[in-house]
Amino acid sequence: MNDPIEGGTGQPLSLLDEFILMLLDEESGYFYQIPAQKMNCVIIGAALAELSLLLRIDTDVESLHVLDPTETGNPSLDLILKEIVDEPVRHNAQYWIEKLLYHAETIIDLTLENLVKLEILEHHQGDFWTVAPDKLYGTTDGDSDNGIIGQFIRTRIGKDIFSDDIPYPRDIIIICLIEACDIFPLIFKLDKKAEERIKLLCRMDLIGRSMADAVEQNINNPLLTSSHLGKKIPRVSLHRLLLNPHTRGGNLPALFADLTKEYGPVFEIALPFSKPNIFLSGPEINRWIRRHGRKYLTSKNLFGDFEKVYGAVGILPALDGADHFRYRKTMTPAYSRGRLEGQLDVVYSKAREYMANWKVGETYPARDLCRKMINAQTSPLMMNIDTQDIMDDIIAYKERALSTHLLNILPKFMLETPGMKRRAKTIGTLMERVQSVHTAAQRAGCPRNFVDDLLSLNANYPMLMPEANLSFALSAVVLASMYLGDGFNFALYAMASQPELYDKIRSEADALFSNGDPTGKDFTPANIEITDRFINECLRVYPVVPMSMRGVVNTFTVEGYEIPRGARVNIAQTAPHYMEDSFPDPFSFDIDRYLPPRNEHRNPGYAPYGLGPHTCLGARWMTLHMAVNLLIIAHYFTLRVYPEDYKLGINSFPSMKPNKKLKFHIAEQKHELPI
Ligand code: HEM
Repeated sequence: MNDPIEGGTGQPLSLLDEFILMLLDEESGYFYQIPAQKMNCVIIGAALAELSLLLRIDTDVESLHVLDPTETGNPSLDLILKEIVDEPVRHNAQYWIEKLLYHAETIIDLTLENLVKLEILEHHQGDFWTVAPDKLYGTTDGDSDNGIIGQFIRTRIGKDIFSDDIPYPRDIIIICLIEACDIFPLIFKLDKKAEERIKLLCRMDLIGRSMADAVEQNINNPLLTSSHLGKKIPRVSLHRLLLNPHTRGGNLPALFADLTKEYGPVFEIALPFSKPNIFLSGPEINRWIRRHGRKYLTSKNLFGDFEKVYGAVGILPALDGADHFRYRKTMTPAYSRGRLEGQLDVVYSKAREYMANWKVGETYPARDLCRKMINAQTSPLMMNIDTQDIMDDIIAYKERALSTHLLNILPKFMLETPGMKRRAKTIGTLMERVQSVHTAAQRAGCPRNFVDDLLSLNANYPMLMPEANLSFALSAVVLASMYLGDGFNFALYAMASQPELYDKIRSEADALFSNGDPTGKDFTPANIEITDRFINECLRVYPVVPMSMRGVVNTFTVEGYEIPRGARVNIAQTAPHYMEDSFPDPFSFDIDRYLPPRNEHRNPGYAPYGLGPHTCLGARWMTLHMAVNLLIIAHYFTLRVYPEDYKLGINSFPSMKPNKKLKFHIAEQKHELPI
């Protein structure tokens, strides 16, 4: 028996670890899209083969029996070993693969967790995975010094199929399982000789062959693979919809939570004169989307008309697969918390400049105050320009374009009104301003900003970030200040209307600002512990982006409902924010939910940043930016909600924000603003 390969920390890699590494598609940052049933079968096949290599079971095509019931220490393997040991009757491998299928997803999760712990895989926001650079580019000569994987599995398997050497038995098993998945042509460029060699190798090892056979038989079992007869999707009664208090209050997550409780996780809403819309909603849906969404859902084609408005093609929210991954990877530094930490001096000076206009005793419209305060910082930080004078027009134009060309809730000509045409021109103004300050000479020696990264992307991948897309990408920065500004508006409302939380945030602020301006490093989890939990709760109760739209490219069955190819679905990912199972007493504002052992933000029902590959790329930037602004206000001022009897009303299209009746009253100034 060959020795298992080491993972670089001295811990051997299991066959499951190596098999999962083989399935990773480095181009797309995700795993080859193997149908769920097939994937589950091969994972169980790999686990059984590993148990066999560890001499816990013996298996061939006819039977599978226990040799040694002792635990292996690998939680994935022990999970299924226990079941086999506890079964009094002897069965064959095919039986066990079918019986153990329901463990497959847990085994995948445990294996990925292990690979991250071993620092072989890195997990990125949006559920992207990459091999850690030192493992990817390290030596592949079998030497396991310096924490490098002894011999990266893909190189080994490549050698096995392109040379005449005799492979390790464990490699043959992996080859058999990959062949059963039918993905060799995706991993290697195969010639006739290599194809024949794979067939030959697959006949060489008994364990591998019996597993691959058993997997094949299960994959080809129509009773297991075909979807069940789908349940009929219930249609929400329009009367019920209109009577729901959250429809009028604009609280979409709470509305979808109610509809989910009444109609189940899949339902249709048919508004007069429009086609019915399918909604997916609830914690189980969130779990399913994260795990399986990429195989069935796309953002492509949804934005076709909307993109055209900006003369763009293939904007970030409309990309999928490898292009999407490359775009996000290249632009991640531009949206990172580290980038913001390095420029907090700009944040402080712009925030103070803005607050210097506030007069104690005055009241200010909340929406404008919050959007402008955030925008006064975001545009200089990301684009090195000021956009205060054109922000409202850029936002109004985009909101109208979303309503006319994406959500289709307004006729298209509504984007052609004289007012909208005037607003469209401000996008040209934005471009001119950015161009005027981004010449090579002017940028020399400046810290890198978002535009520098965008221009590099255009230079290096011109088809991924064509010039035609620049105007949309730059408008998106102004729009990000709108999303963040509206999230900040909810947070200021929550702070101003709960004086005891205001005081707690202020004590963190005073500790940070009393001895001069804090640096990025001072914003540790311990120093802003309350503010962080407060922001978590604001994003739960008031998620600015409550749902996402996707197209269905492959028919799927979820929670017993079949969703056909070609459909459009609305994923109400924040509905669980108001569901008792995910968040007990969901209508109470309770920042202690995020303390251990409750840790309610760790459950799949918490999704203020969206789900899956398009998860908010600015999430880390955004939480620090929001924290700094709440803290700086709490340090200098006391704000109160105005009018005093104001009851929060929400405008929810196209994204959630407090209604325009909300104002903030500047009740007192605690500290002088430095000049
Ligand atoms: C309260 C503030 C914000 C919330 C609640 C929020 C939420 C979201 C959500 C839910 C999505 C996914 C949309 C979908 O799946 O269709 C998203 C995408 C995105 N967000 Fe945010 N966002 C916020 C602020 C920001 C900020 C300030 C930035 C930039 C600094 C930003 C950058 C992005 C980007 C680039 C994407 C697209 C990612 C992709 O398509 O791969 N967001 N955001």
